[in-house]
Amino acid sequence: MTKPYAEVIGDPISHSKSPLIHNFWAEALGLDVEYRAVHVTPEGLAAYFAERKADPDWRGCNITVPHKVEALAHVEDRGDVRTTIGAINTVIRAEDGALVGTNTDAAGFYAPLSELDLAGQPVTVIGAGGAARAILFALSRMGVGPVTLFNRNVLKGAALLSSFGLKGQALPIGAAVPPSALVVNATSLGMTGQPPLDLDLSALPEDAVVYDIVYAPLETGLLAAARARDLDTIDGLEMLIGQAAVAFELFFGAEPPRDRDEDLRALLLG
Ligand code: ATR
Repeated sequence: MTKPYAEVIGDPISHSKSPLIHNFWAEALGLDVEYRAVHVTPEGLAAYFAERKADPDWRGCNITVPHKVEALAHVEDRGDVRTTIGAINTVIRAEDGALVGTNTDAAGFYAPLSELDLAGQPVTVIGAGGAARAILFALSRMGVGPVTLFNRNVLKGAALLSSFGLKGQALPIGAAVPPSALVVNATSLGMTGQPPLDLDLSALPEDAVVYDIVYAPLETGLLAAARARDLDTIDGLEMLIGQAAVAFELFFGAEPPRDRDEDLRALLLG
């Protein structure tokens, strides 16, 4: 007999922090469940879902690079994820046995911003990949003002802005950051082993917030530059933990103990 379990799948997968997060919460709540990482290649994706669909103990999985778009083809889309965000990071085995795709990245991104009123405010986003899609979706729901989107591939950036119905413009990375209430790095630039993200933040107002989704290192060059200007910052562990919290509740039907975030952050950084 096995116990209820969930997984994170990706290729590669060994770097994933998701098992640490979910197992920390399960242990803190005394839940007899398991969360593990499984290496699934693009060729193995269909077989993975077919096998798990037959296992009633499998509660679902998180999905990471490179499967976030492709996985949509193997699951039911009951929440219009295909036409809204266009990528999934979570699959749930519904009570009727169906595999349902959803995306908790947008909610995870939004959680640390929920106290702010950004309606009508100018925002700058760097990136136009999978993470940026969830972020732009959340921003469009928040009703933000014009979005300046920096991306290496400017055409891709412009297409993404219009697909989310956002006003604004796409520019190459390197142009000056315009006055913005919020600046978000939605790329891997600044991550250990990646090129740095050098932005001129001098035009930002004093109450601007700078948000980096990179969490390794926790203090990226972008966040260091923001702190040097005394701006409020949000680091990448916030979104990582936020998206996991929504998924955990979907998998195991229990709210994660968010009052233990400090301990969880220490564990993730250890
Ligand atoms: P994710 O799912 O993590 O968002 P992705 O879909 O591969 O990953 O998107 C990566 C993002 O980082 C893109 O915006 C990409 O820019 P392009 O759209 O121009 O490819 C950006 N990116 C990655 N490496 C980069 C680099 N070395 N310089 C500039 N931008 C980079």
